[in-house]
Amino acid sequence: MHDLAIRGGTAVLGGAVVRCDIGVTGGRIAALGERVDGATEIDAGGLLVLPGGVDTHCHIEEPFPEGGFQEETWESASRSAFAGGTTTVVAHTPQFKGGGLAEQHQAARARAARGMLDHGFHQIIADPSDAALAEIPALVADGVGSLKAFLTYDALHLDDEAFLRVLRAARRHGLMVHVHCENFAAINLATQDLLAAGCTAPKYHAASRPPVVEREATARAIALAELVGQPLHVFHVSCAEVAEEIARAQARGLPVKGETCPQYFTLTAGDMDRPGFEGAKFMCSPAPRTAADHEGVWAMLRRGVLDVVTSDHCGFSYEGGRGKAKNGRGASFDAIPNGIPGLAARLPLVFSEGVSKGRIDLPGFARLVAENPARIANLYPRKGVIAVGSDADLVLWDAEREVTITNALMQHAIDYTPYEGMAVTGWPALTIRRGEVVMRDGVVSATPGSGQWLPRAPRPV
Ligand code: URP
Ligand code: ZN
Ligand code: ZN
Ligand code: ZN
Repeated sequence: MHDLAIRGGTAVLGGAVVRCDIGVTGGRIAALGERVDGATEIDAGGLLVLPGGVDTHCHIEEPFPEGGFQEETWESASRSAFAGGTTTVVAHTPQFKGGGLAEQHQAARARAARGMLDHGFHQIIADPSDAALAEIPALVADGVGSLKAFLTYDALHLDDEAFLRVLRAARRHGLMVHVHCENFAAINLATQDLLAAGCTAPKYHAASRPPVVEREATARAIALAELVGQPLHVFHVSCAEVAEEIARAQARGLPVKGETCPQYFTLTAGDMDRPGFEGAKFMCSPAPRTAADHEGVWAMLRRGVLDVVTSDHCGFSYEGGRGKAKNGRGASFDAIPNGIPGLAARLPLVFSEGVSKGRIDLPGFARLVAENPARIANLYPRKGVIAVGSDADLVLWDAEREVTITNALMQHAIDYTPYEGMAVTGWPALTIRRGEVVMRDGVVSATPGSGQWLPRAPRPV
């Protein structure tokens, strides 16, 4: 007799889709089979049973250099994630220029411990001084498995020498490097030109950073990683033109992979051209491209050039004090925070645009939103798969349910969703984290503080 049995569902077990019961004991999957008994039983008849979503690119309750935090807390982000079928996240620990790592890491861990999500961190390196790099072994010992580098943004961008220092440090310690690829100088000059011409509206965000700006930085990041012999994971690839650089690297046998996000197959640069200040709601970097680019992104996902879909969830409200309008509703595009919320919408958007529209199959869906993110974060097979011995993180999924996305359904602390009004087919009915039901029919029931830190082992190259 197991603690819990999920009975009668159709489970996605790696590449197979089979009718099977699931027995859970001690928070782990203990049995997969024809007839499994449990002290508690959940009827999954008519539902799919999928591995809990793993979102390896989130920004949650991050501190700002000038003080204060993003308004999405670990508790509100946990609710949002569970509402959307995600049970594990990897978020970011900041480093401020001139500052160290360990103190920020411990503070970030303390904030995350107040939430309900199982979690890990990428350590952002904004200033790879000798002193900062000397702190990396202690972070590795505590279970940080990856570094994050930004090639743009005033406060974060690394020049080639600094990025090479990050790549070398990662190689020395067996860490993955995740990188935001856009050319900082090109964006700066284009922004100056646009502002001088009086082009300040949100829509000019896209004009300031066209695909070539992302493609150039991606090619450069890949070349520098090749030079150092360091594996690379390119974050939020926006279109096929950029993914092609990754495909070429892969064809040469380089360990380079890429992720994309739902905004790159649901939103367009045109969304930033809505009346008044509304366009700010869709402002993220890289910028959303064109409807034609959406198909290119799907083609790259089907080819496996891109193999992870994350949310890049970023907690900026539209009205809130720290949000999109923090510099007023007439703020020029370069004074509006970049980033959009998407934790809860991720699985429904990938399922609806992917599986319901026939672009990918069910095992492909589970790989994009759970298995491959768990693999890149070195959390597989504890996370990301329905297998005996894995954590019992499961989503019972209603593949037929038609839902119109509203902000209330997202259950986050942010006052809007860029996906408001979008119709999706497929929605999570129940979310289970380590054997505990944490969401049923939209009602989240987990206890704050119940999320676990996930130490990630290094992988020396
Ligand atoms: O616009 C975005 N993506 N903001 C969040 C930070 C980042 O670049 O990932
Ligand atoms: Zn980024
Ligand atoms: Zn589309
Ligand atoms: Zn991000």
